Amino acid sequence: LEIAQELKNLLLVATEQAFPDVVNLVKAYGKPLDLHLTIASKPEFGDFQVNGTFTLAKPLGKSPHQIATALLNVLEGNSAFSKLCEKPVVAGPGFINITLKGECLQKEAYKALLDSRLGIPKVSEGGGESQIHSLPIIVDFSSPNIAKDMHVGHLRSTLIGDCLARILEFRGYKVLRLNHVGDWGTQFGMLITHLKEVAPAALTNPDVVDLGDLVTFYREAKSRFDNDPIFQRASREEVVKLQSGELAARQAWQLLCDQSRKEFQTIYDRLNIRLTERGESFYNPYLEDVITALDNLNLLVTDAGARCVFLEGIKGKNDTALPVIIQKSDGGFNYSTTDLAAIRYRFGVIPEGDGANRVIYVTDAGQSNHFAGIFQIARRAGWIPAGGRLEHVPFGLVQGPDGKKLKTRAGDTVRLKDLLDEAVERAAIDLRKRLLDEGRQESETFIEKVAFTIGIAAVKYADLSQNRITNYQFNFDRMLSLNGNTAPYLLYVVVRIAGILRKNDVSINLTSNALCFTEPQEWALLRQILKFDLIIIEVEQELLPNRLCMYLFELSQLFNRFYDQVPVLKATETEIRISRLALCRLTADTLKLGLNLLGIPTLERM
Ligand code: ARG
Repeated sequence: LEIAQELKNLLLVATEQAFPDVVNLVKAYGKPLDLHLTIASKPEFGDFQVNGTFTLAKPLGKSPHQIATALLNVLEGNSAFSKLCEKPVVAGPGFINITLKGECLQKEAYKALLDSRLGIPKVSEGGGESQIHSLPIIVDFSSPNIAKDMHVGHLRSTLIGDCLARILEFRGYKVLRLNHVGDWGTQFGMLITHLKEVAPAALTNPDVVDLGDLVTFYREAKSRFDNDPIFQRASREEVVKLQSGELAARQAWQLLCDQSRKEFQTIYDRLNIRLTERGESFYNPYLEDVITALDNLNLLVTDAGARCVFLEGIKGKNDTALPVIIQKSDGGFNYSTTDLAAIRYRFGVIPEGDGANRVIYVTDAGQSNHFAGIFQIARRAGWIPAGGRLEHVPFGLVQGPDGKKLKTRAGDTVRLKDLLDEAVERAAIDLRKRLLDEGRQESETFIEKVAFTIGIAAVKYADLSQNRITNYQFNFDRMLSLNGNTAPYLLYVVVRIAGILRKNDVSINLTSNALCFTEPQEWALLRQILKFDLIIIEVEQELLPNRLCMYLFELSQLFNRFYDQVPVLKATETEIRISRLALCRLTADTLKLGLNLLGIPTLERM
């Protein structure tokens, strides 16, 4: 990261030296001068690549190739640049390929070995912008609905949201992990009515009653609601009672929420995921103000009795403007009203609110229109503070092996508890088989712990390693395989290295300047290790965990190639052995930290 920054500066200076007018010329195009330094897309292109010559071509009136050549001439004469890099080359129609010098990489490796953060800076350590950095970032994720299934879609949200939160936390941001649980709405009318009839005792003594499976309970209530007009009327009345705060209705609602909460919590516990519950009901006191504020801004239109905001630039069928309903014709509020109130609260439009400056929503792509709509309304209403960001992080569907929405064999939605159980069971079976093959004896505690870690890791990694935008196929065999881009493959590399280091720990012997690498496999591995900080920054910007997964997978492959082809423990020269052991340790440290940021703990033996 530091080197990339230094290179960027050197490139800017060189550009100004080669083209004294460049800043003004570029300014005329309304853009700052940027050379677009990126990580090289292939190892044969070196470490970094400059693409900015293409955007400079127009303002400078020269071809990218001419610009690149002129830059090279200046760079070659620059001593700071030559200290860091080999002779740069012009590639293709005008890219510049930059390769760092070996000594420079060795120095970086040494620094990384002494740094538990592996070169990843904390935002607070940065200069001027620190004030923005001290404002909280909200990650709104998981967010299942009371008395309904927490399904695989919620699992995806939970895993992606946790990973993003972990990365932001590691970078030093203050992160609020909010669980926007669906704990309000007209469905509670029928749930409470049903509850009063089937388990009246629960209302006076909630501790003794176990409602059992809430999903079945929901289904029963729904079917009665659909088929029984008297039940329906009672349900409608119950909604009104709940909204007006009647004690019995409130208690029944509370009971249902508590019951669901307990079930959700068992899943979070198994996944080791921390969330702060702040459900939809939390925003009830702020809903009325949304209407008043929008009304004062003249944004509200009454359409067929409902109050809505018509969106700009987003068209529905027949090219007509799309409305977002904020208040239904019966006066009730909805999902959108709640989300608008939440935006006001989170950005601190409401004084007692969070005062965040970035809010990230992790839900399936099916809600993209919803978020586009409410983000626009918030912007037009002036509720987004200067520099404030609202971001929807959408993801695709989880599909079964048949390419259709994931279902059980009986055709029901898959329950998360069952899914996690099965992953752990299968991991245990695989493990027992492997132990047998390897002739190893291990305790039951060992087997249980390892199977649990691998099983959960496999589910998490399978999800995170997919580009979240696309649908992904859930496949136990694939995710639990020791080969390929899977959690077991990565975990095994960590275990392999732990085994090497048990035989010979380098930390005792390491002194500065002691590192010396000779083989191409070592350089390739080291180059990959040193990219870690850039990858983390990239994930932080683009919110794509699969980038981190791909990086860790490539790192593991490079390590295996290195370890299979280059002697480590058997290297005869001490200096070389130490260097190679250091490379092993750096690889393990990088994998451990990387997996940890994905929410996956590692093992020393498996
Ligand atoms: N409860 C919703 C669902 O299950 C997700 C809520 C997402 N967060 C939000 N602020 N709307 O689909």
